[in-house]
Amino acid sequence: MKGIILHGGQGTRLRPLTYAGPKQLIPIANKPVSQYVLEDLISLGIKEVAIVLGETFPELVREYYGDGSRFGVKITYINQGRALGIAHAVSLCKDFVAEDDFVVYLGDNIFQHGIAKYASSFVNGRLDSMILLKEVEEPQRFGVAKLDGNGKLLRLVEKPKEYVSNFAVVGVYFFSPSFFRIVGKLKPSWRNELEITDAIQLMTDDGYKVGYSLVDGWWADTGKKNDILALNATILDERIQSRIDGKTLNSRIEGRVRIGEGTIIENSTVRGPAIIGGNTRVINSHIGPYTSIGDSCIITRSSIEYSIIMDNTSIEEILNLEESLVGRNAKIKSNSNAKKSLKLHVSDYSEVEV
Ligand code: DAU
Repeated sequence: MKGIILHGGQGTRLRPLTYAGPKQLIPIANKPVSQYVLEDLISLGIKEVAIVLGETFPELVREYYGDGSRFGVKITYINQGRALGIAHAVSLCKDFVAEDDFVVYLGDNIFQHGIAKYASSFVNGRLDSMILLKEVEEPQRFGVAKLDGNGKLLRLVEKPKEYVSNFAVVGVYFFSPSFFRIVGKLKPSWRNELEITDAIQLMTDDGYKVGYSLVDGWWADTGKKNDILALNATILDERIQSRIDGKTLNSRIEGRVRIGEGTIIENSTVRGPAIIGGNTRVINSHIGPYTSIGDSCIITRSSIEYSIIMDNTSIEEILNLEESLVGRNAKIKSNSNAKKSLKLHVSDYSEVEV
């Protein structure tokens, strides 16, 4: 089986951060969302992965993943450019896929238990396509599946305006190469995209064998700031083990905390779950819980909780920063002693003085 990671799209719901890079590179517990995706594909035994690139800084994706050898996998890049739909992105991968089965994984989706179990069901069921469904509270935000009383898949609707069901189609799709026989028949939707849900509906209508599995455990789609902060908290909670490679001086470390090499924590408290990257300095500050701080940051006389601070950023004299997403190379500084809590969504290279 081959893997396809979708790394394009516009990321409009995550502006301003997506003015500086693709949303799939936003770090969750100091690791890009799409790296969780790549690692999940590798855990299935997949050796060849195509990454589909969009218009938003595709060179940053190439730079980060390279030829894949760092991860033990061969990566091929395919340029989509404008986001003309998920099915359009997949249609560009025909030569890459050749005669193999393949799995399409949206680069901004994460599953609690990964997708290995579903890959086996797809292969063992000898299906042409398999989708994954999860019951959600806001089905209008997703592609949605209508099932009959016996659980048979009847119909798929993208972002339904009228209620169809609570079963969202999540961002992993398994296919046999027969996908490429139907994709040419697709017409753009009302939002001018070639929809993956329409492609799967066509396969069903044309008599191909389409199945589904229900996802157990949580599934996250990192579409908005709050989704990202919540996912960061969950991943820190479930996957971070204590490990201190840096130095702590006159500081208190409570709970599960990971501190990278070359980092110095001085006269501070760090409360887990939390992660602090390498070569960062934390001085006279309070960090955590549920906080990720990247590499080469400087945090002085500040208090940060339930936030993501990316690489090379400095935070100075901010007494109560919470629920914040701060990009790379930013400078956040206060000249007042205001204790009022600050909630920021700030992109790379920004300077904020409060
Ligand atoms: O997350 C699950 C949902 O993902 C499904 O329920 C929907 O059926 C599916 O259409 C999709 O909906 P979204 O509105 O969340 O799609 P979004 O535009 O955010 O794109 C999903 C991912 O695919 C994202 O990582 C960007 C990438 N993408 C998207 C499009 C439209 C591309 O690489 N190229 C594209 O043309």
